Amino acid sequence: MSFAKITGTGSYAPEKVLTNYDFEKIVDTSDEWIRTRTGIRERRIADPDVATSDMAYEASVKALEAASIDPSDIDGIILGTVTPDYLFPASSCLVQHRLEAKNAFAFDLSAGCSGFIYALQAAKAIIVSGDAENILVIGAETLSRIVDYRDRSTCILFGDGAGAAVLSKSDENGILSTYLRANGEEWDKIIQPAGGSRIPSTEESVRKGLHYLKMKGNDVFKEGVKGLEYASLEAIKKADVTTEQIALFIPHQANHRIMEAARKRLNLPPEKLFVNVDRYGNTSSASVAIALDEVVRNGRIKKDDLILFAVIGSGFTLASAVVRW
Ligand code: COA
Repeated sequence: MSFAKITGTGSYAPEKVLTNYDFEKIVDTSDEWIRTRTGIRERRIADPDVATSDMAYEASVKALEAASIDPSDIDGIILGTVTPDYLFPASSCLVQHRLEAKNAFAFDLSAGCSGFIYALQAAKAIIVSGDAENILVIGAETLSRIVDYRDRSTCILFGDGAGAAVLSKSDENGILSTYLRANGEEWDKIIQPAGGSRIPSTEESVRKGLHYLKMKGNDVFKEGVKGLEYASLEAIKKADVTTEQIALFIPHQANHRIMEAARKRLNLPPEKLFVNVDRYGNTSSASVAIALDEVVRNGRIKKDDLILFAVIGSGFTLASAVVRW
């Protein structure tokens, strides 16, 4: 029986930094409010000529380098995103073209912030089935393009970036478990209303601001704490490990208070919680992918460590995983 294992990671964040102090000049807010309510200090914003596939490409190049694998050996590319370059074609096809990954299939996956873990599970299943040996899994977002910089309750939260990982066929079991669920009843809690087939783009849709991200923050907050705990426990159970064995908890980097509440509910010590939301804000499906690359590159995890991921996203979607490094 063959397994799947992450063999290389990469990430990319735009150079431009938007701090809480910058927001004080844009909307009625303060650094103190943003820091205490969310834990965010700054986020990265893509230049106008940079789109999601560009950042996804940059992260992918680094992941391929880290995995020491040639693009022609990639059998597939799965890109989690809610901010693709175009509604179609898939942004993963643009990445495939730029990488010259001639032998790869490519598709985008829309699962809100859970996109990277959904993509990881899809890639794992394809590899374990024997249909592929190496799949590039990406989470990438240009949320700044759909954020309303007049709405102080959402604009301070989001940032741009990309993270990637190469998942390869292996004798070692690198993905001990994944747990995926959706609760479509809450479909309207985080939404970009217009631009699809329900509300096509019209002058009116633009005038009404329906192309901007809308979020019911309080509802998401409550669901977030419960969801992260629940999904974490399910992935731990499926992996047949104990919470004590988890070396590092990487929850979705949306809000420090949500992550901290989930950590406490799971009885994990503070040093096992990974946080970089202070530097990137919420980058949706790129969030845990960037976090993973950071902990790999700064040596925070070592061989055989167990990493617990847990994410809640628009949909709502819920995703978690226990990964053996
Ligand atoms: N600066 C100052 N005040 C702000 C503000 C800002 N940036 N944003 C909102 N406020 C105000 C509100 O207008 C409200 O004022 P009012 O009482 O006069 O009406 C007050 O702060 C409280 O708003 P509320 O929405 O209850 O704040 P909160 O403590 O719930 O924090 C969020 C708001 C968005 C930070 C929080 O709900 C959150 O993080 N939710 C989850 C978001 C998330 O994780 N999304 C992604 C999941 S994929």
